[in-house]
Amino acid sequence: MRALVTGGAGFIGSTLVDRLLAEGHAVDVVDDLSAGSLGNLADARANQDHDFTFHRLDIRSDALLDLMTRRRPEVVFHLAAQADVRVSVQRPVFDADVNILGSLNVLEGARAAGTRKVVFASSGGTIYGDPDPSDLPLKESQPHRPVSPYGVSKNTVGDYLVAYRELHGLEFTALALANVYGPRQDPHGEAGVVAIFAGRLLKGERCTIFGDGGQTRDFVYVDDVVDAFARAADKAGGLLLNIGTGVETSVLELYRAMVEALSMDPDEMAAEHAPARVGELQRSALDPSRAGIHLGWKPWTEIPDGTRNVLRWFADRP
Ligand SMILES: NC(=O)c1ccc[n+]([C@@H]2O[C@H](COP(=O)([O-])OP(=O)(O)OC[C@H]3O[C@@H](n4cnc5c(N)ncnc54)[C@H](O)[C@@H]3O)[C@@H](O)[C@H]2O)c1
Repeated sequence: MRALVTGGAGFIGSTLVDRLLAEGHAVDVVDDLSAGSLGNLADARANQDHDFTFHRLDIRSDALLDLMTRRRPEVVFHLAAQADVRVSVQRPVFDADVNILGSLNVLEGARAAGTRKVVFASSGGTIYGDPDPSDLPLKESQPHRPVSPYGVSKNTVGDYLVAYRELHGLEFTALALANVYGPRQDPHGEAGVVAIFAGRLLKGERCTIFGDGGQTRDFVYVDDVVDAFARAADKAGGLLLNIGTGVETSVLELYRAMVEALSMDPDEMAAEHAPARVGELQRSALDPSRAGIHLGWKPWTEIPDGTRNVLRWFADRP
């Protein structure tokens, strides 16, 4: 398969690139390096046997259409995005420009290139909005009522994917990702708390938790997420699928697991608490059953193993 990964220099995108190359696929990456880095692609670039090309390009650029028509990717994994919810609140026009108009440019490129399928990174933590906790873990049938510009932009691209499938026969799968964590992750992303805790704990510093730490998230490990992307290349056409664990983990539980992984004294390292942040979602979890049925996918990495890998990765970096 010849694949194109937008956002391939980012946290999830670069992990997907490594997986696709390991499976012997040819991979083009389009990334403007606004958040990602070439360091994330060091392994991909180092191996001479890989059919790999990096293109430093903004997905909003006119040159994208030309590039895609030349490279003719069979499958486009579209992960490039302004991925910070807080930035979307401060700069909604910028968010829409990258996440909606940029995505449309990618879809137009896919159409011109005769691409068979687009696999899109949507956001299960934001497209459903702030639902009643009794609905957790959320299914894909949950009404979509995003409450952030980022959630609106991710949801809108989901609508465009349906329209392009109808209008142009361009197949898609949209993956509604939960809070993805793992090596290479950025502290500003949706599971940024794992990177923040790792950074501080490795310096021997206690961490601050906003509120009582009872707020929950669905933390899903990056290798598991990438497995879902790879499977979606030729399965689950026309569907939105939740990619999460279905399990709520509180921020306090996460913190304790990381303290334990470092064999630190839990009393000595007890978290400090700051006032809860206004507007923060209290609970979150996604039901992954549909991905189980249509992709044969399930998450297999438990929090203790996943967080240990993150700590090891951060510890190895200066
Ligand atoms: N990390 C999570 O928990 C999470 C959860 C839900 C959805 N997602 C989505 O998954 C995707 C990947 O997220 P990530 O955590 O790896 O984020 P990331 O910021 O590491 O990756 C995004 C990549 O897109 C690139 N990019 C940004 N704007 C661009 C533009 N205009 N043109 C070209 N490239 C551009 C960045 O340089 C970066 O390499 C994003 O679409 C994000 O919205 C992530």
